[in-house]
Amino acid sequence: MGPQSAPATLPAALYRADPDQWRREREEIFARSWQYFAHESQLAEPRQYVAETLAGYPLIVVRDEAGVLRGFHNVCRHRAGPLADEGGGTCPGQLTCQYHGWVYTLDGRLRAARDFGASEGFDPRDYGLLPVRTEVWRGLVFVTLDPDAAPLANWVAPLERRLAGRDWSALRRVAVRQHSMACNWKTYVENYLEGYHVPLVHAALDAEIDSARYTVTMDGRVAIHEAPLRAPNPVYDGLWAWMWPTLGVNVYGVGLMIERISPTGPGGVRLDYIYLMPPGVEVSDETMALSDVVTAEDVRIVEAVQRNLDAGVYDTGRLSLRHETAVAAFQQFVRAALV
Ligand code: FES
Ligand SMILES: [Fe+2]
Repeated sequence: MGPQSAPATLPAALYRADPDQWRREREEIFARSWQYFAHESQLAEPRQYVAETLAGYPLIVVRDEAGVLRGFHNVCRHRAGPLADEGGGTCPGQLTCQYHGWVYTLDGRLRAARDFGASEGFDPRDYGLLPVRTEVWRGLVFVTLDPDAAPLANWVAPLERRLAGRDWSALRRVAVRQHSMACNWKTYVENYLEGYHVPLVHAALDAEIDSARYTVTMDGRVAIHEAPLRAPNPVYDGLWAWMWPTLGVNVYGVGLMIERISPTGPGGVRLDYIYLMPPGVEVSDETMALSDVVTAEDVRIVEAVQRNLDAGVYDTGRLSLRHETAVAAFQQFVRAALV
């Protein structure tokens, strides 16, 4: 048998800021997958909450009075007001809409429609908050809008297999860094899924790792990078993984960094780097500085790629079977989600 043929890429039109395409991706991809939402330490006590907008869905997760984690759309059932600003904290045992003051219990029931007046046929029991599923894996709180999504444990099983023996129970959230860029989320994810660009884009990183032996392997919805070091170096050592559609998990010798690739719309991405470390360990300045350099190099190239995709001269290319099989798998997931 001769060599397989290199797969064609997705057409450039799918990467442009098209509102209809973005609506389909939100509904078919982001609403149907598990998204990293928060670290359990942010929600350790009853009444603690975190509010975040993921892929255009404003969400809130709160630990209720009975200790149960509850997820909701951060959207009041009266006229769509917000229950909480983005961020987190401790609420006073109920959620009060900021617009007209409807009050909800922490398990999502409408307790009081403030000064609403008499209304025949208005039953508060019909106007509870819209729930969202939450599950926890190794202290990481995930949400999905899909009542039928497979359990989170199924999704993360390929990661779990590679983490056997590592204990994350004492990790704390020690630092958060954010970076914004002007590109479609798929442009960034694809860059994340191959090491082919390392020798051209990341000179300092390339000096440390053996790019010729850089591989990315798919296992279910998870991609695992293997980048052998030229010489032992704890700053670069670790397990780099990705899970469909937009989660990076970078496991270091101690602790880890969650990389959440959050689309802010069809043409923008915010990266949230969340560093989780054991007690007494901070993220070294060297690790932060290195991460900033590599991120800046990636942002520069993906923004240039996005401008070229937007220019309208390029439609589709071909993917290397040696280096870009994870990109091909990602593009297959996108195709399958959007049929
Ligand atoms: S929108 Fe929430 S009380 Fe009116
Ligand atoms: Fe890169």
